[in-house]
Amino acid sequence: VTTTIAVAGKGGVGKTTIAGFLVRFLVEYGCDPILAVDADSNSNLNEVLNLPLSGTLGETREEMKKGKSQGMTKDLFIKKRVSECVMEGEGYDLIAMGRPEGAGCYCAANHLLTDCIDKLASNYKYLVVDNEAGMEHISRVITQQIDILLVISDASRRSLVTAQRVQNLAVEMKILSGKTKLIVSNLYGALTPDILTVIKKLDLDLIGCIPNDSLLAHYDLKGKATSSLPIDNQALKSAFSIFHKIMKF
Ligand SMILES: Nc1ncnc2c1ncn2[C@@H]1O[C@H](COP(=O)(O)OP(=O)(O)OP(=O)(O)O)[C@@H](O)[C@H]1O
Ligand SMILES: [Mg+2]
Repeated sequence: VTTTIAVAGKGGVGKTTIAGFLVRFLVEYGCDPILAVDADSNSNLNEVLNLPLSGTLGETREEMKKGKSQGMTKDLFIKKRVSECVMEGEGYDLIAMGRPEGAGCYCAANHLLTDCIDKLASNYKYLVVDNEAGMEHISRVITQQIDILLVISDASRRSLVTAQRVQNLAVEMKILSGKTKLIVSNLYGALTPDILTVIKKLDLDLIGCIPNDSLLAHYDLKGKATSSLPIDNQALKSAFSIFHKIMKF
């Protein structure tokens, strides 16, 4: 059985950073095999993890639609391409979805792709899915139910309201089989009573906070993988203690 953990929320709140921390956490606690799934069409989880990308599933779908299957059966071609898209990291694999299919596309290529990804995903114990803002596209490519939805927000009202909407959407779309936890990220200082009041009024279950961290910002600016921050880094430590609570180990 695969445990699927999805990270979602408003733009720029720290989703990809947290997904990267989570991959590192799972690797350090021996939870392999782990598949990191970059479901953002503007793929960048690989940068946080420091892995090159060899291609995206979106590109594979386009090739299929254009009939470029190199003389192979479509089935074989897609299997080959999907396996080429899987990047091997240290203790985990990474795959990037790339661009989603056009609106209302139920093409054969997409069906084959979905089948192939489902088979691939079932080989892993953990899936960590980094999403772009909004969730509609998830269930179009990955049919896995989400066991744990991490909604990420900064300490602003609009971001918290977005977190709530994302949670509602996941429930409405029936892609959530487990629980949702709220992480307040990039926090300056402590949570104020005002923010706590907003959270309380919404139907969000706060599990913890991650502070704004100057070393993390520095890594980002230098193009260094933020998932490789030192183990005593405050942002990383806060994330790990949240993951301990969620995963119960
Ligand atoms: N705790 C933190 N302290 C300092 N900088 C942070 C922190 N968390 C994230 N950042 C920085 O904020 C920016 C946005 O983070 P990130 O890419 O993780 O957000 P995102 O939610 O995935 O964004 P997008 O919606 O574009 O996918 C990055 O430059 C990242 O390095
Ligand atoms: Mg992101």
